[in-house]
Amino acid sequence: MHFTLADLVTDITQNGAESGAALVELEVSQALNPGGSGEFRFTVRDNGKGMSPEELKRAVDPFVTDGVKHPHRKVGLGLPFLIQTAEQSGGGWDIKSEKGKGTTVSAWFDAGNVDMPPVGDIPGMFRSILMFQGPREIHITRSRGGQNSYEIRKTELAEALGDMEDTGALVLLDQYLRSLEEDA
Ligand SMILES: Nc1ncnc2c1ncn2[C@@H]1O[C@H](COP(=O)(O)OP(=O)(O)OP(=O)(O)O)[C@@H](O)[C@H]1O
Ligand SMILES: [Mg+2]
Repeated sequence: MHFTLADLVTDITQNGAESGAALVELEVSQALNPGGSGEFRFTVRDNGKGMSPEELKRAVDPFVTDGVKHPHRKVGLGLPFLIQTAEQSGGGWDIKSEKGKGTTVSAWFDAGNVDMPPVGDIPGMFRSILMFQGPREIHITRSRGGQNSYEIRKTELAEALGDMEDTGALVLLDQYLRSLEEDA
């Protein structure tokens, strides 16, 4: 099965977008140390419906996930898959959730580990995430090496681009996101 870290981040962010949250915040960072080691890390924070301890336990249990809801998807992901991938590639994870308040999911991956999936298309991932229906605001923070960072706010983009479903707006959005990543 071929999948990328971008696929994982998209899937987990979609959970946030489907949680009834008004705001979904995504941070994606890559620390590149001299010598090639480094870390890919992301955090998704939503202020949606949250989970009780029992619900969270079910959500992270690989034997509860059915994988039936989205047959068209190239990977059946979800929290169990994130956890498995992070642990297998020398990384880790942290999930905090409070019923009625929201959820924060973080995971990190050791870039030097041979089992780490490829990072994938980061600007394409941001575009998919910005198109998610549901949250009024999506706030993305991207950083590499601590300094080269940029931020994206869905509401500001929507003001600049108008209807984001429009083909012309989509092309502009794509170009804009790719230019941010190149300059970072
Ligand atoms: N951010 C979140 N806020 C609230 N509930 C969540 C969140 N993330 C996961 N869950 C709960 O965990 C369940 C399992 O999540 P998972 O991503 O594995 O499957 P799904 O989202 O239901 O389906 P799919 O990912 O295939 O669309 C969700 O249905 C939801 O009840
Ligand atoms: Mg999901």
